[in-house]
Amino acid sequence: MDHAETVLRVRDRSITFYDQGMSSESPAVAMTANAQAVDPASLARHFADGDVLPLWIAEPYVELAPAVTAAIEARAGAGWYGYETRPQSVIDSFWAWMATRHGWPGTGLQTLVSPSVGTSIGVLIEQLTDPGDGVILQPPVFTDFKPLVVAAGRSVVRNPLLLTENGYRMDLEDLAAKAADPANRIVILCNPHNPVGRAWTRDELSDMASICASHGVFVIADEIHGDLAIPPTLFTPFGSVAATSGVSWAATHGPIKTFGLAGVSDTLVVTDDNQVVELFGSRSSQLHLTRNNVFGIAAMKAAYDHGGPWLDSLLELVAANAALLQERLPDGIDLATPEATYLAWVDFRQLNMDVPELAAWLGSSARLGLSPGHWFGREGAGFARMTTAVPRQQIEEATTRLTQAVAEIPH
Ligand SMILES: Cc1ncc(COP(=O)(O)O)c(C=O)c1O
Repeated sequence: MDHAETVLRVRDRSITFYDQGMSSESPAVAMTANAQAVDPASLARHFADGDVLPLWIAEPYVELAPAVTAAIEARAGAGWYGYETRPQSVIDSFWAWMATRHGWPGTGLQTLVSPSVGTSIGVLIEQLTDPGDGVILQPPVFTDFKPLVVAAGRSVVRNPLLLTENGYRMDLEDLAAKAADPANRIVILCNPHNPVGRAWTRDELSDMASICASHGVFVIADEIHGDLAIPPTLFTPFGSVAATSGVSWAATHGPIKTFGLAGVSDTLVVTDDNQVVELFGSRSSQLHLTRNNVFGIAAMKAAYDHGGPWLDSLLELVAANAALLQERLPDGIDLATPEATYLAWVDFRQLNMDVPELAAWLGSSARLGLSPGHWFGREGAGFARMTTAVPRQQIEEATTRLTQAVAEIPH
C-alpha cells in the first residue's frame, strides 16, 4: 500500500482519516462514514474523481478536547433526553471564557441561543431589513453569507477586501460609499475573516463601526472563529469597540469551530440592543428555534469551563503547521502567515491557471480536496483554502503532492 492510500483508509462503517504514526500532541481521529469531509459522494461532487486528501471543511481533524467528549459521554449515560432547560451557568461559562481569554467580560450585554450561525444571520437579516434591502458583504468571504442574503430576497452588496503588499485590508472608502446608500441596511463582518485569516485590529473595527454608525447600518459580526486567533495575535471582539461609536450590532459566538462541535452544539448571539433581543427572540419562539439539545448544553459548558489547555495546544499545532506549509510549499505557491483560524489561504496565482484549470489541477494532479478560492467570491480566484488543524503528517503529505504536481506541469 503506498503512502497516499494509508492516509485515507476506508473501512466498513467508519473511515480512519489520519492513521499513520500520530504524535501524542496530534492524535488520529476516526471519522464516521457520514462525516461530510470524507463522504465519497461529497468528494466526488466537488473534487475531480474524489480520490483526494480532504482538507476542505472548516473543522479540527485531531482528537477533540477530552473534557468535552467526556461531558458528552457522561450526558449520554444519563438516560434522559427529554426537554431540558438551559442552565444560566452555561452562559456564565461562556462569559467567563470571554473575559479570561479575550478580556471581554460582556458587561451589560445580552446573550441569546440559536441552533446555528446561519440561523442567527438569517433571522437577523429577516427581522432587521425589508425585502430588496442591501446587505453588504466583504468577499472573499465565507460561502454561506451570500446564499443567506439571496434566500431572504435581499440584495448582496459587495465591498471586496483589498489585497495589499501588507495583506488583506478592508476597503473603508468603498464601505463608506455603500453604507451611505439608505437601501443598504446591514454589513456582515467576518472577524476573524474566513478565508483570508485576518484578525481585524481594534483600529480597523473602530473605523468600520464609525462608518456604520454614521449611516445607521447594522453590523452582524460573525465571530465564530474568534477563539482561533494565533498567538501573539489577539482577537478583538467587535462588541468591545462598538460601544463608543454608537453603532447597532449583534455578534455570533459559540464553540462549534473552535472545538469541532458543529454536529452537536448550539451557538450564541450577543448584543447590547434591546430591540434586537425582542425581534430575534420573538422570531425564534415563533419558529420553535429555542429547543435545547442536551448534548449541546453539556458540550458547550465543558468546552468553556475546561477547554483552554486543549485550545492552546491546537493553536500551537496550527501555528507550527502554517510554518511547515510555508517552508515546504514549492516555488510558485505562497502563503501569507495567517493571523487567525485554522484555514490557510494558499496563493496559486503564480501558476497562471484560470479557475477551472486550477480546480482540475488541484483535484486530479495534486489530489487534494481544498476549497477553491472562487467559492468565496470572484476575488478568491487563484487561491484555495486548506484546513491546517490536522496532524503535521497531513501537511507533509499535502506539500509532497503539491511539489510533485508542480514538477509535472508542462513548461
Ligand atoms: C465564518 C463562519 N460562519 C459560520 C459558519 C457556519 O456556522 P453554522 O454551521 O453554525 O451555520 C462557518 C463555518 O465554517 C464559518 O466559517
